[in-house]
Amino acid sequence: MSVDIQLTVNGEAVSESVEPRTTLVDFLRETLGLTGSHVGCEHGVCGACTVMLDGTVVRGCLTLAVQCDGAQVETIEGVSDSGTISDLQEAFRRRNALQCGFCTPGMLLTAQELLARGDAPTRDTIREHLAGNYCRCTGYQAIVDAVESVAQARAKG
Ligand code: FES
Ligand code: FES
Repeated sequence: MSVDIQLTVNGEAVSESVEPRTTLVDFLRETLGLTGSHVGCEHGVCGACTVMLDGTVVRGCLTLAVQCDGAQVETIEGVSDSGTISDLQEAFRRRNALQCGFCTPGMLLTAQELLARGDAPTRDTIREHLAGNYCRCTGYQAIVDAVESVAQARAKG
C-alpha cells in the first residue's frame, strides 16, 4: 500500500506516492535523487542524515516520509544552491573542517540552524549544538573553529 504525499523540497512542490515505512532520508535519496543527505547509523545516533523540516533540523532516518505531508523540507542541496551557507562552506574548506566529507552536510545544516538564531554563540554552545553530529575524521576542533569564525563574521554584519 502506498500513500500520496505533497510537500515542498528546496522550494519546489513535490507530489509522490510512498510506502508508509519509507524514511525521509531514503525518500530524498532514492525517489528525489538528493544524495547529499547521507545514511550512516540508521538509528538516530550519527546525524549524517540531518535535514531541515519546517525550519528545524531532524534525523532523516527517524522521520517517515509520510510524516512530511504538507511540510517544507530543505536539504544540503537547497541551502548550497541558494548561497545561504556559502560562508560556512568556505570556512569549512579554509579551516580543513572536513576530510572524507561524510558528516559535512549534516554538520553544515546543524551549524546553520544555530547561526540562524542571530546571536554569536560561544565555542561551548557550538560544541553542544553539534554534539549530535558525529565526525570520524577531524577531531571536531577545526569544525568548531570554522563555525565560530562564521558566527563572528556574521555578527559584524
Ligand atoms: S543515519 Fe540518521 S542519525 Fe545516523
Ligand atoms: S569529515 Fe569524515 S566523518 Fe567528518
